[in-house]
Amino acid sequence: MRIVITGSNGLLGQKIVKLCLERNWDFIATSKGVNRNPDCPNGNYLAMDVTNKLEINQVFSSFYPTHVIHTAAITNVDYCEDHQDECQEVNVRATQLLFQATKQFEAHFQLLSTDFVFDGEKGNYTETDLVNPLSVYAKSKVDAENILLHDEYTNWSVARTIIVYGEGNNLSRSNIILWAIDTLKKGNEMTIVNDQYRMPTWADDLAWGCLEIAKRDKTGIFNLSGPTLYSIYDLVVEIANYLAISTENIKAISSSTLSQAAKRPPRTGFDLSKSRRELDYNPLELKETLDLLLK
Ligand SMILES: NC(=O)c1ccc[n+]([C@@H]2O[C@H](COP(=O)([O-])OP(=O)(O)OC[C@H]3O[C@@H](n4cnc5c(N)ncnc54)[C@H](OP(=O)(O)O)[C@@H]3O)[C@@H](O)[C@H]2O)c1
Repeated sequence: MRIVITGSNGLLGQKIVKLCLERNWDFIATSKGVNRNPDCPNGNYLAMDVTNKLEINQVFSSFYPTHVIHTAAITNVDYCEDHQDECQEVNVRATQLLFQATKQFEAHFQLLSTDFVFDGEKGNYTETDLVNPLSVYAKSKVDAENILLHDEYTNWSVARTIIVYGEGNNLSRSNIILWAIDTLKKGNEMTIVNDQYRMPTWADDLAWGCLEIAKRDKTGIFNLSGPTLYSIYDLVVEIANYLAISTENIKAISSSTLSQAAKRPPRTGFDLSKSRRELDYNPLELKETLDLLLK
């Protein structure tokens, strides 16, 4: 296998790079600008803006990929709400460009997507449930998925995931669990929504799942999340309990009191049966990941 990874400076991209190095797999890591991941050898890195067709063609024609794992995206949901054109360009048009290039090399294409494709009324979503995006970001991911779903070329997969967390190098954004650990340790007050339910995903598990999809040349949609559903409030309380820190500074609030630009689905969560069955995907529980994160 010869894998092109997009978004290699991001959290998931860094974890995929780490696993490829551990396995001695042939890969090229790409991201916009310089390599910000000191664990990724510069010999394995090429700058590639996923909105730049010329740069995509240069990378593909120098590397001849058999697999492409497309993690790059604008992932800040509220930012997307106020920057619709940029979101469309990076999350949708870039997917189109990369998919076209992948087809020319008859390679396998994998797109990272999100639980936000759903409206959050049902919860415990399977891969075949109907999408109904509530925000610009969510709609961009549905549009990107549809590029694949409506094409005659079927050698693709979509990996949908939920709140990805873990540690990385020089990340451009943090994640809820790192933020919660930091804030709890400082003893600061936190106001946390108690009416949004998610299955947080350990980035290393997600990376493992993505590579398994590629290795097995799986096609179609796969749910890859953590195993357990929490309200965001309960998630932070769990972390406080793990750290043996009092929960008195954690205040529960409802989403309606927040003035967030993008609307969020109230209850997502995935049915993981297909990924467990077809990929042997077996994600760690929150406590196990905290053991690893805080050891
Ligand atoms: N994080 C989550 O909670 C979550 C949940 C559901 C789905 N997902 C999906 O999972 C995937 C990976 O997420 P993540 O957590 O690894 O996100 P991330 O840490 O934000 O990484 C995304 C990476 O994409 C890069 N990027 C942005 N625009 C680019 C461009 N034009 N060309 C090349 N690279 C570009 C970013 O570069 P800079 O670092 O330079 O900004 C960043 O490194 C994304 O597709 C996301 O939509 C994530």
